[in-house]
Amino acid sequence: RVIAVIMVGGPTKGTRFRPLSLNLAKPLFPLAGQPMVYHPIAACKRIPNLAQIYLIGFYEEREFALFVSSISNELRVPVRYLKEDKPHGSAGGLYNFRDFIMEDNPSQILLLNCDVCCSFPLPEMLEAHRRYGGMGTILVIKVSPESANQFGELVADPETNELLHYTEKPETFVSDRINCGVYVFTPDIFTAIEGVSMQRKDRANLRRLSSFEALQSATRSLLTDFVRLDQDILSPLAGKKQLYTYETLDFWEQIKTPGMSLKCSGLYLYQYRVTTPHLLASGDGKKNATVVGDVFVHPSAKVHPTAKIGPNVSISANARIGAGVRLISCIILDDVEIKENAVVIHSIVGWKSSIGKWSRVQAEGDYNAKLGVTILGEDVTVEDEVVVINSIVLPHKTLNVSVQEEIIL
Ligand code: GDD
Repeated sequence: RVIAVIMVGGPTKGTRFRPLSLNLAKPLFPLAGQPMVYHPIAACKRIPNLAQIYLIGFYEEREFALFVSSISNELRVPVRYLKEDKPHGSAGGLYNFRDFIMEDNPSQILLLNCDVCCSFPLPEMLEAHRRYGGMGTILVIKVSPESANQFGELVADPETNELLHYTEKPETFVSDRINCGVYVFTPDIFTAIEGVSMQRKDRANLRRLSSFEALQSATRSLLTDFVRLDQDILSPLAGKKQLYTYETLDFWEQIKTPGMSLKCSGLYLYQYRVTTPHLLASGDGKKNATVVGDVFVHPSAKVHPTAKIGPNVSISANARIGAGVRLISCIILDDVEIKENAVVIHSIVGWKSSIGKWSRVQAEGDYNAKLGVTILGEDVTVEDEVVVINSIVLPHKTLNVSVQEEIIL
């Protein structure tokens, strides 16, 4: 049996995702019309003997309650949210809930970061993991040498795929192979995490007066230890024939910023062509709007037949898109209204926002630049004939003059 665990973090983590994470937990932000965390969950569905999916985080339980119950029904796989009382780190969070995870007596545990976008080749990874016979297998990808230092860089044996060396976000270049944040472990991972905590305690106790009381309190606090998977587990276990790598040649991106969410929305829309083509809109400008490339339109959204949308456009529930509107590379969130002849390019339009007639909301589309994608927060009004370029607008603002390269607080 296999158990999947998705680390969703908490409100103190997704700060680079503002203003879109101000009223919604980042893992629930829609990419290609589905919450970010939906995509790894859907990928887990492809594993035949999957017993349970746990989401572990320190967001309030109520933020995930609706999502967890609806996804369990929709995909017919039990999904449960487990709340940490405080951040324990990526390995500490897993360890904290080891009793739940071990309840089904799994032979493998899949561990996934929620903020990565990829094809999640999980059956293939499980296969490779069984073949290697180690404690863990890490999904890796080759990236450009300039971007590698934002991630865990690693070196693997080209023959055996054994992980030989691992450094988290190194200052000097180590390797262009990086950790994708997707892992398979045997339950021995818990012993490894426990080992790290023990060693730390031993060192602390040596420094302290080693009285019996000190030892007892140390044992108690052991369970609340903060342990990072990368620095504390992967680095020391490299080169010990316990960890192996599985390299993907497919797409992979990390989703830390709103700009990257727009890019990843496009990647998932493209993937729908293979996995779920019925989710993609089609239209020829007669009864329905003209559709170009990969587009998702929620069934409750209303798009005027004279609008032209795509490529990479995702339109959420109850949005209204007026006559003559042109949308290219954008995410339109719930209850947005875009009035006649407005143009939106390389932008994210927040919940309940309104864009006036003949207005333009656009950006250059540099996903990595701070102002490379225009972001309108929740309930922003752009009045008629106003132009907003390369800007971020915080919630509840009204723009009646044009702006460029600005952050409107
Ligand atoms: N539940 C919980 N509790 N989740 C956490 C905690 C915690 O205390 N800390 C982090 N996470 C979650 C985050 O939400 C994210 O999904 C994942 O764990 C990893 O987050 P970080 O530890 O902040 O690391 P990172 O995202 O900067 O980098 C990691 O992922 C990269 C791939 O995306 C590293 O493992 C890198 O090596 C790797 O390249």
